[in-house]
Amino acid sequence: MFMRNAEYLAILAAGLFFLASTNSYTQTPNLGMPIDEQDIAAWDIDILPDGTGLPLGQGTAGEGKIIYEQKCAVCHGVNGEGGISPALAGGDPLSNGIDTGKTIGNFWPYATTIFDYTRRAMPWFAPRTLTDNEVYSLTAYLLVLNDIINEEVVMNANTLPEVRMPNRDGFIVRFPERTP
Ligand code: HEC
Repeated sequence: MFMRNAEYLAILAAGLFFLASTNSYTQTPNLGMPIDEQDIAAWDIDILPDGTGLPLGQGTAGEGKIIYEQKCAVCHGVNGEGGISPALAGGDPLSNGIDTGKTIGNFWPYATTIFDYTRRAMPWFAPRTLTDNEVYSLTAYLLVLNDIINEEVVMNANTLPEVRMPNRDGFIVRFPERTP
């Protein structure tokens, strides 16, 4: 009797498998929903090193300082010197050794990354809440704190990619053809 049941089960399983495989091209699990260009645009926010993807808008360090004090200093310290979260300015020369603390000033090769990172990830508890003008202003302020630009320079989609970072040539470039 046991064998009988096992045989029936095997035939049943084979039948179900056949049905499933013949229908697999016409049926889907019916999950998800259509996505249009606008939906994608909201997530398509990456900025390339050469500035591709930077939005309209602008800002200066003076404006950035006010926003920084309200939304960033509590974690990153006054003037970006660090606190419960990493320092955003200064830093010793990286030639001091492998354990040297890395900051925007002594490590980051592209200024455009400051915009991308800040817009997508900061403030820590409320990412994606800053306007593009606020992010340009904060980027300008962080560049001033690192003595990379002057206070009066306006940051926008044209000027930001022109900023040359101190550690720009400190990396071994794996894909030169993809590097600006
Ligand atoms: C609640 C605390 C908090 C606040 C507020 C905050 N940050 Fe941060 N931030 C962090 C932490 C934590 C990290 C490190 C994240 C990591 O390494 O994964 C970080 C990393 C960063 C970095 C990258 C630093 C590096 O060298 O890797 C930048 C730039 C930055 N924050 C900018 C800002 C700006 C601008 C603001 C204000 C709009 C802000 N943060 C507000 C906690 C905070």
